[in-house]
Amino acid sequence: MEKPRYYFVDDRETVNLDFSKLGFDYLACPYRFEAVFEFGVWRARGIVEDKTMQLPEGSQCLHYGQQLFEGMKAQRGPDGRVYAFRPRENARRMNQGARYLQGPEVPEELFLRGIEEVTRANMPYVPPHGSGAALYLRPMYLGVGDNVGVKPAAKYIFRIFVSPVGPYYRGGFGPDQGKSVVVSRYDRAAPHGSGHVKAGGNYASSFLPGAEAKEAGFVDAIYLDPIEHRYIEEVGAANFLGFKGDALLTPKSASILRSVTRVSLLEIASGIFGWPTEERKIAVDELGDFGAAACCGTAAVLCWIKAVVHGDKRWEYPFDPRWQELYDALVGIQTGGRDDPFGWRYEISG
Ligand SMILES: Cc1ncc(COP(=O)(O)O)c(C=O)c1O
Repeated sequence: MEKPRYYFVDDRETVNLDFSKLGFDYLACPYRFEAVFEFGVWRARGIVEDKTMQLPEGSQCLHYGQQLFEGMKAQRGPDGRVYAFRPRENARRMNQGARYLQGPEVPEELFLRGIEEVTRANMPYVPPHGSGAALYLRPMYLGVGDNVGVKPAAKYIFRIFVSPVGPYYRGGFGPDQGKSVVVSRYDRAAPHGSGHVKAGGNYASSFLPGAEAKEAGFVDAIYLDPIEHRYIEEVGAANFLGFKGDALLTPKSASILRSVTRVSLLEIASGIFGWPTEERKIAVDELGDFGAAACCGTAAVLCWIKAVVHGDKRWEYPFDPRWQELYDALVGIQTGGRDDPFGWRYEISG
C-alpha cells in the first residue's frame, strides 16, 4: 500500500538532533494521530499535522476536567526495529478512566492503530538504540462541546502526540544516581476518588506538593494514604517499590495508579529472578526495616531512592544491585536486547 504523502518517504530518514542530550521535554514532532467520537461512533481522522487544537469554549475538558491521558514509550532495538511496550495495558487503563468519567471507551484496536500510525509517521524521531532516549507517546482523551452544565460531553477527541525524550529525573538510572524524596503533607487523591485513573485533575493538584518538595531540595514528593496518612501511595508520578529482606514490596491501595512499569517489574522479579513479591499496605514507619527503595514509571523507568525524609525522620538506602538486574531486564525486554518471555514487546516497524 502506498504511504500517504505526508509520512516520511523513507523510514531511514534522520533528523539533526542530539538524542543523548534530551531531557524530559516537549519537542513538537511533525505528526499526530486523531480520532473523534460523535453521534455514537468513533471516526479516525488519522494523521494530522497541526499541533494546535481548536476546542469549543464550553468543552467539558476545559471546565470540569473531563480529560484523560496516557504515557508510553516506543524504543529502537539494537536491530533497528521499533517497539512499544504493552500498549494494550495503556488502552485498558484509559478505558477504565473513560468509564469513570462517563465517556465512551476508545476501542483497543483504534488505540493500537493510533500508536502504530503516529510512531511510523514520526519514525526519524525515534531515538537510536543506546542513546538513552525514547519516543514518548502521549495519548489523550478530551470531552468537548458547546456546553455549560455539569454533565459529560457528547463529543470526544482522542489524540496521540509524540516527543523524543531523555530521562525524567536528571541523570536517569545508575548506581551514582540515587534520588532523595520527601513525604508530603498534601494528599494526591481522595480515598474513593479518581486516583486510580489518569485524569488530568489528579496532576494539577500535585503541582503544589511537587513544588514544595523541589524547593526543599528533593526530586519529588511521596504521598501517603488520604485516610490515615500512614501508608505509602505514590512517589510523584511514579509507583513505589522497596526490598524488605528478600521480598520486593509495593503498596496496595485503591487510590494509586496501576503502573504498567511496576506490574512488569514485579512479574520480572518473580518470573525471571524467582524473588518473592508482594503488593500490600506499606506503613511509612516501616521504611526503617527496608533495605532498598525505588520508584518506577514509564517516564522514570526505575530510579533508586537514596533517602526518604518524613518530618524529622530520615531513612537512607544504599544502591542495591537488584535494581540493576531489574532495570537491565526491563529495558532489555522493552528494546529487544533480550528475550521477551512474557510477550510484552509490540513491534511497530517492519
Ligand atoms: C501517578 C502515577 N503513578 C505511576 C505512574 C507510572 O505508571 P506507568 O508505569 O504505567 O507509566 C504514573 C505514570 O504514568 C503516574 O502518573
